[in-house]
Amino acid sequence: MKKIRKIGVLTSGGDAPGMNAAIRAVVRTGIHNGLEVYGIRRGYQGMIEGDIIRMDSDSVSGVIGLGGTILQTARCREFFAYEGRKKAYEQLVRSGIDAVIIIGGDGSFTGASIMSKEFQIPFVGIPGTIDNDLYGTDYTIGFDTALNTVVQAVDKIHDTAASHGRIFFVEVMGKEAGFVALQSGIACGAEGILIPEQKGELDKIRQYLTDRAKRKKSSIIMVAEGEDEGGAIAIANKMKEEFPDFDIRTTILGHVQRGGSPSALDRIIASRMGKDAVEALMDDQKSIMIGVVNGRIVHVILSKTVKLHKMVDPELLEMADILS
Ligand code: F6P
Repeated sequence: MKKIRKIGVLTSGGDAPGMNAAIRAVVRTGIHNGLEVYGIRRGYQGMIEGDIIRMDSDSVSGVIGLGGTILQTARCREFFAYEGRKKAYEQLVRSGIDAVIIIGGDGSFTGASIMSKEFQIPFVGIPGTIDNDLYGTDYTIGFDTALNTVVQAVDKIHDTAASHGRIFFVEVMGKEAGFVALQSGIACGAEGILIPEQKGELDKIRQYLTDRAKRKKSSIIMVAEGEDEGGAIAIANKMKEEFPDFDIRTTILGHVQRGGSPSALDRIIASRMGKDAVEALMDDQKSIMIGVVNGRIVHVILSKTVKLHKMVDPELLEMADILS
C-alpha cells in the first residue's frame, strides 16, 4: 500500500459543536507525524471544486472553543452522482492527497463509503452530528453540547410555563432519531417524551392530561422532530382540540441547537477521535469510523455505521417513564 504523506480533512452535512476541535486534532497530529494536512472547504462541494487549502499548526490556533466549522460545510447533491464523485477524485489526485478524514453524519459516511469502493482513496470517518444517531459509537461530536443547549432553553421555558400553568410541546432536532429528545427530556424532567422509536406514547400523554386536570400544574412535553405524529405543532393542535380547557403552547428550538461553544466533553471526544483518525490512516486502515464505546476508542466498518440502526437504550426509556 502507498505510504500516506498528504491527508485531507473535511466537514460535511449539518455542522456540530466540536467539529473544530476535531479538525485541530487532525491537523496537529498529522503535522506531529510528518504529514502534510489539507483542509477541503465546504465538504464534498469543495472537494468537487478543488477548494483545498494547506493547513499548518497556526491555522487551528484558538479554534477549539469555536462552534460551527472553520472549514465550512455543505449538503452536496452533485456528490450523489458518479460524475460528481469522479470530479472529486480527480481533484484529490491533482492535489496529491492520499487519504481523507471526513467529519460528518450518516449522509456524509454513505458518500464516503461509495467513493472508497469506486476509487482507490482511503477514507476514515469521525462522527460529527448533534443527532447521535450513528451505529457503532456511544457519542457523536456535538451531541453533548446540543443537549446542554436544549436543557438551558427548556429550563427557561419551564419558568414561564410554571408561571402561567401552561403545557408546552417543545420540538427538538434529531432527524429520524429520538436521542436528543430522550436524553434532554430526562435532563429537563419533562412530563412526556415523544420519539419515533417508541410507538403509542401519545395515548399516555392523553391519559396524563386527563389526570392533570385534577392537579393543575405546568408541563413540558419533549417532541422529537422525526416523531410519527407530525411534530410538535401538529400534536399541540390535536391536543388543543381534545383538551380545550388547557392552555397549550409550542416551541420549536430549531438551529439554536446546532450553535455555540462546544462543551468540555465534546472538545475532548473530538480531540481523541481526530488524533486516532490520523493514526489509523498511518496504520494503513481505511473505510472505518472512529467511535467511542464505554469510554474507549473503537473502529467500526464505515458502511456498517450507516446500514445498521442505532437503538435507543431501553433502560433510559423505562427510567424516563418512571420519573416523569
Ligand atoms: O443532522 C443534523 C440536523 O441538525 C438534524 O437534526 C436536522 O434534521 C437537520 O440537520 C437540519 O438540517 P438543515 O440545517 O440542513 O436544515
